Amino acid sequence: MQNRTAIGVANANIAFIKYWGRADDDLNIPVNGSLSMNLEGLYAETSVTWGQSADTLVLNEVEQTGKPLQRVAHHLDALRSRLGIEGHAAVSSVNNFPAGAGIASSAAAFAALTVASVAAAGISLSERELTALARLGSGSASRSVPAGFVEWYAGTDHETSYAESFAASDAWNIVDVIAIISEAHKATGSQEGHSTARTSDLQDARVAGAAERLRLCKQAIFDHDFGTFAAVVEHDSNLMHAVMMTSRPPLFYWLPPTLTIMQAVRDWRADGLQVCYTLDAGPNVHCLCIRKDVDQVSAALKNLSGVVDVRVARVGGAAKVISSGEC
Ligand code: DP6
Repeated sequence: MQNRTAIGVANANIAFIKYWGRADDDLNIPVNGSLSMNLEGLYAETSVTWGQSADTLVLNEVEQTGKPLQRVAHHLDALRSRLGIEGHAAVSSVNNFPAGAGIASSAAAFAALTVASVAAAGISLSERELTALARLGSGSASRSVPAGFVEWYAGTDHETSYAESFAASDAWNIVDVIAIISEAHKATGSQEGHSTARTSDLQDARVAGAAERLRLCKQAIFDHDFGTFAAVVEHDSNLMHAVMMTSRPPLFYWLPPTLTIMQAVRDWRADGLQVCYTLDAGPNVHCLCIRKDVDQVSAALKNLSGVVDVRVARVGGAAKVISSGEC
């Protein structure tokens, strides 16, 4: 019998309302719902070929062993047992942005891996089912499956914790201008961070207000209300980082230029520019602005000391399978 293969592509995403902390560590059920936009052009492209004698992983052309391979094999185990797939897979993935440095590399990677694995097995699933399966690999990967602006419902079990698009990619001209200050892989991944979130005295307060922030943020997107959007997005990011910094042991993702950029963004907004910041689990700063201001924001960021690169991403589309068949 021929081996079946497929290639999947998925964009990274940036959360406006963050996922931080889990109610179920095995299923990656989050303690609160979250909201994001996909990042067009910052993607992972992953090929999966079933019918192998062992799972293998090549990442950006380098054969992987240890933790990265274990994490992929663990996700393949979940897909095998839930979908009745037999045999092992050869996985090869490339991404065109720095992995593990505050641009959700695991989101793009596990979304692409999930859609490719399912297609290569010749199985057809709904988008909702694909988002739930992607979540098992990496929580935020669930949000990289649907297009545009996406909500991930926290849910209480595998079936009810899924993501869906609430506004199309062209619903609002928001652009993420990412100030990259370090391409180094972060010391503590989000996986460990989610487990220590509950040790912060601030986590309960963050979670208690999350649903209301999510409602406000969604409405601001529908209304193209940048002022409300900026306030709630920065507040939510600040709350998540406050939880990180007050967890035991604490997690400090910021570097000195991170704070310089955050302050500059607030100053620029006070001067009338429509821009706000948000950060994931890393030091790079995602500066969200309206499309017409992208050049101005990019130029201003490049002038700040410590900014080594600037990446620009519009609202991106859904994860997709770009080829599938027998090999
Ligand atoms: C800070 O999805 O990377 O980016 O489920 O362990 O893979 P795992 O965690 P992950 O956590 C992302 C956290 C965040 C905020 C967010 O994207 O919502």
